[in-house]
Amino acid sequence: TVLGIDSSTQSTKALLVDAATGEVLGQRRASHPAGTEVAPRAWLAALDDAAGPFLDAAAAVAVGGQQHGMVALDEHDAVVRDALLWNDTRSAPQARELVEEMGGPAACAEELGSVLVASMTSTKLRWMAEHEPEHAARTHRVLLPHDYLSWHLNAEKTSFFTDRGDASGTGYFSTRTEQWSHDLARRALGHDVALPDLAPHPRAVLGRTPGGAQLAAGTGDNMAAALGVTLGPGDVSLSVGTSGVAAMVSETRTADPTGLVTGFADATGRYLPMATTLNAARILEFGTRILGVDHAGLSALALAARPGAGGTTLLPYLDGERTPNRPEARATLHGMSSATSREDVARACVEGLLCSLADGVDALERATGVPARRIVLIGGGAQSEAVRRLAPAVLGRPVLVPAPGEYVALGAARQAAWALSGADEPPAWALPGVQEFAADPTPQVLEAYRLLRDRTGAWS
Ligand code: XUL
Repeated sequence: TVLGIDSSTQSTKALLVDAATGEVLGQRRASHPAGTEVAPRAWLAALDDAAGPFLDAAAAVAVGGQQHGMVALDEHDAVVRDALLWNDTRSAPQARELVEEMGGPAACAEELGSVLVASMTSTKLRWMAEHEPEHAARTHRVLLPHDYLSWHLNAEKTSFFTDRGDASGTGYFSTRTEQWSHDLARRALGHDVALPDLAPHPRAVLGRTPGGAQLAAGTGDNMAAALGVTLGPGDVSLSVGTSGVAAMVSETRTADPTGLVTGFADATGRYLPMATTLNAARILEFGTRILGVDHAGLSALALAARPGAGGTTLLPYLDGERTPNRPEARATLHGMSSATSREDVARACVEGLLCSLADGVDALERATGVPARRIVLIGGGAQSEAVRRLAPAVLGRPVLVPAPGEYVALGAARQAAWALSGADEPPAWALPGVQEFAADPTPQVLEAYRLLRDRTGAWS
């Protein structure tokens, strides 16, 4: 039996899992304060609450955590200030500054795999150095959220560790050399800073809990999710949540100078390039509100219309977009006639959402040079019948939809089971409750969307 933990922005989830089959044996959750700046001890309390009762039953444990957060510790390993999280954007000017210092976006991506943005840890260190010099001066060590939680679980309180997946979101791990860049960390903070040891292998055992369970390296939440949904090379996961996240497992590293694709490392020794769209599930919310129906109603209306929604196309950039990069954009509903029906408008919402996700998949294919093999659809939006039924048509590829579940925690559990087995590959767990939809391309839908997207690019 193994234990997988997901310390997310909102809450902490723990899954007790059968190491041989991946069957979930127990599940607990504890909430902790959300926001963009959080006292790390709140995560420890939630971890103890959610995972504590499972610890004695587990032979191995791994922690998945929200990426990028800055946990600054002093020389006694006490927290210096509240952690600045991935969703805290105050360090946008510092991100631009650091990119320039590295020689511009292309040079930055070449070293880090990604162009620095405000999410990434190094920009937060630089912000602290500029705005809170007394905190920066006291900072002796910097950890990511999952590293801090692994340390809390580790009986050996003098060792700190992380993995290359989560490390690749810091801005001071080079995906070119596969090593920390102590120099970049120093330049961000203004002085030398201790960094956790990098796991020598994705299934390394790096510590033990006081009860004797093996501690695996843990990883970032997106890397853990990829393990949880058993993504293989060329597979893409599309998570339809508040934002849309497209991630592909890739054998080769990416270095997209446009910044559209962040070239993270994964938790298996490969890479996990990711592209994010800002408008995802909120497009469905918008549809339900405008049409005065619930989600099932929107889905039924959309499925009653014909492909292409009678010529109606939604460019769904409701609150600006980043894939394509149009922060000031607004949505456009185009091509209506007096014959346009509510069914067509519902259909246009679902197709617009899927077309926008297709842009994420396209960005990944361009960055990796590898065609997407198949798509695993997850997140709240994947529960819409219309989204799952229309996805293979718009995306033109086979689509798998697993049962709703805690895939970050499940992925962490799979890493723990891998560490326990010592095998070459992670255990072959089946994707729970999976529904498969064969590819059924209707290229005209994507063509209409892309025509409109490119035509409106100049003014939206
Ligand atoms: C990825 C990112 C988020 C967090 C969410 O770059 O910032 O997905 O990992 O927890």
